[in-house]
Parts: sequence; C-alpha cells; structure tokens
Amino acid sequence: MSAPLEPEVGALLEEAQRAFRKEFGSEPTLAVSAPGRVNLIGEHTDYNDGLVLPMALELVTVLVGVPRLDGLISLVTTSEYADEPRRVEFPLPTADQPLEPGMPRWANYVKGVIQHYPASPLPGFSAVVTSSVPLGGGLSSSASLEVATYTFLQQLCPDSVAAVMRAQVCQQAEHSFAGVPCGIMDQLISLFGQKGHALLIDCRSLETCPVPLSDPGVAVLITNSNVRHSLGSSEYPIRRRQCESAAKALGKKSLREVDMKDLEARKELLTKEEFRRARHVVGEIQRTSEAAAALSTSNYKTFGRLMVESHNSLRDDYEVSCPELDQLVTLALSVSGVYGSRMTGGGFGGCTVTLLEADAATRVMKHIQDQYKGTATFYLSKAADGAKVQPL
Ligand code: GLA
Repeated sequence: MSAPLEPEVGALLEEAQRAFRKEFGSEPTLAVSAPGRVNLIGEHTDYNDGLVLPMALELVTVLVGVPRLDGLISLVTTSEYADEPRRVEFPLPTADQPLEPGMPRWANYVKGVIQHYPASPLPGFSAVVTSSVPLGGGLSSSASLEVATYTFLQQLCPDSVAAVMRAQVCQQAEHSFAGVPCGIMDQLISLFGQKGHALLIDCRSLETCPVPLSDPGVAVLITNSNVRHSLGSSEYPIRRRQCESAAKALGKKSLREVDMKDLEARKELLTKEEFRRARHVVGEIQRTSEAAAALSTSNYKTFGRLMVESHNSLRDDYEVSCPELDQLVTLALSVSGVYGSRMTGGGFGGCTVTLLEADAATRVMKHIQDQYKGTATFYLSKAADGAKVQPL
C-alpha cells in the first residue's frame, strides 16, 4: 500500500494529471515533487561560504509526465506567467546543439537542468508542471522547479553523482539559464529538507545538520508582502561582488574566514560600503550558529531576538529590505506571542518569516491584515521533506 499523500501534494498531483490528459491525451506514468523553502536565518551568507538555516515548505512544485521516443521534450505549465505561452516544445540537446535560454522564461529552469544533467542518454519526455509555491514571492519557486526537474530526470535516466552535486547542477542551471548568480541554499534545502526539521547548512563544507522544529506550541508564519521591487535582480549580483571584494581586500578567500574583531581592526582596508556589507555577513554567520543552538534547546526567545537582529542588519547594513517588509516585521513584533520576525530570501519584496506561539497566529494575521498598507498573503507551513518521487 502506498503512503497517504499530504493533502497539498495530492491536490496538485490531481490538477497536473488532469492537465496532462487534456494536453497529451494519455495518462502520465511518472510524478515527482520538490518543495519551496523559507529561510529562518542566515541571509545573504550562502555565497560567502557561510551558515544558513532554512526549512522546506509544504508548498511544492510537481512534475508529471511520460518518456517519449521521438527525441522531443514537450512542457506545459498550469501556472500563469504574464504573457508567456504555457506550452513549449524543443529537441533534446546534442553536443552540436546545446539548449539555450529563451522564451518562455519559465521553461529556462527546466532547460538548464536538462542541459547540465550529469547522466545520459536522456530520452525525450512530455510533462506538466504545477506549483503551489507563489511565483517570484521569495520562497524559491525557481529552485523547486529545478529540483523537481532533476528528480524527474533521475526517473528517466538514473544518475550516480554525489548528493550535493545534484544541488550544484540545479544551481548551475539557475546561473546560466536564468542569469541569477545565486548561492546553493535554495537547491540544497529543496533536495534535502526533512519533515519536522530545519536544516543547518554549512555552505563551505556543504555539510547539513537537521535541527528539530516540530514543537506543536510553536508556528512559523510566512507573510507575503506581494511586492517585488525590480531593483532586486540588479542589486543581488552587486552585493555578491561587494562581499568578494571585501574578502579580497582583507586577504581572505571568503567572508567566512573573517571574524568581527578582525573586521573592526582592519576596517580601513575597506570602503565604508564594503565594511557595512561585510559586517552584516560576518554578524549573520555568527547569529545563525547561535540560532541553531537556541532552536535545538527550544530557546525560542533567543531565536526570536536573533531574527530581529538579522532583519535590522539586512535593512541597515546590507540594504536589501524595503518599506513593505519593514512594516510587516514591525506589525508582527507588536503582537503578543511573537518571538521574532524578519525578511526572508533575497529581499526587495517577497516574504517575511515570523516565529510565534501557535495560538498567536490568528491574532497576528488579523493585525497585519488590518494595518498593512498593501495586501498580505499568509502561509502557515510545517517543516516538510525535500524532493520525492510521488506514487500515481
Ligand atoms: C536568494 C538566493 C539564495 C540566497 C538568498 C539570500 O534566495 O537564491 O542563494 O543567496 O537569496 O540569502
């Protein structure tokens, strides 16, 4: 007997199966899912070889499909992407004709993973993509699509690479097909999330350590600001460069190798801006280590304080917050039963994450709904598993 499906995944799978029948006139034989993520703390540290503490969400991207023999790949999405076609078809890549990014943009994440997939020969396939991860909401809708694609390709042509290499292939797809020089956090957590746990990831050694997060008295509330400032995409690579040049000026391989005392003592080697960026990263790595220890002893007060310090540092030193995220954090913190709140993900819009007593959640959502100047959307998700093959 197959294990019962989580309701979220079950409904999505049915939607994807229905769409598959309609588009391709047959039954899909394969199905996979990969989750979005929320990062509890450790922001903008992954590309500095630092520590991060994300958890996988119950929000997932699913892919259902069948292999085909004509060397073509046919993809359909049930999600709405402004003005982009929902169906696309292209041939398998060859050495002479590799895949290249193009339109529709949503398919680039799938193409990128196919292009970089480390096993062969891949057959063609038809597939439908469906997702409950909000698009562009800072909850890693793109990483969940990359990881779902990878997991789907494994069913067509098994790979034999080390587990972390799978995350690196998906990251490579994002770099070269979506043009985003992201770190490794989103892909690692989407692959290796564990139900009831956050995952402490050391982005230097790529070691992961599950930290229990299943206390029924505590909840994680995600609040979507429903804004995404266009600045985000241009500022991310700038932050990355500033961190690299700060590390170089200090004679280090990365900011992971720098401690706060060292940074303060050699401040004059950096521009004022580089110093503030580095102060965020060095402080955030320290906070993430303390937060993981606090979580493992159920010290939610300390965890919450570190979340607030993280937000303030992202706002003031790293300058990746925005008025909407700041307002959501302030509103959450003014309600009793809230341990801490902060922006999560790349910034410039997207979501906040709030740690709170489970029975405070309704109060907090109501307060935010009444006071927030925009329209907020809420997700109360438990820590979920990473990518899976789903029974059909
Ligand atoms: C985005 C990137 C991640 C990470 C975060 C910031 O989500 O994809 O790699 O850098 O921003 O912590």
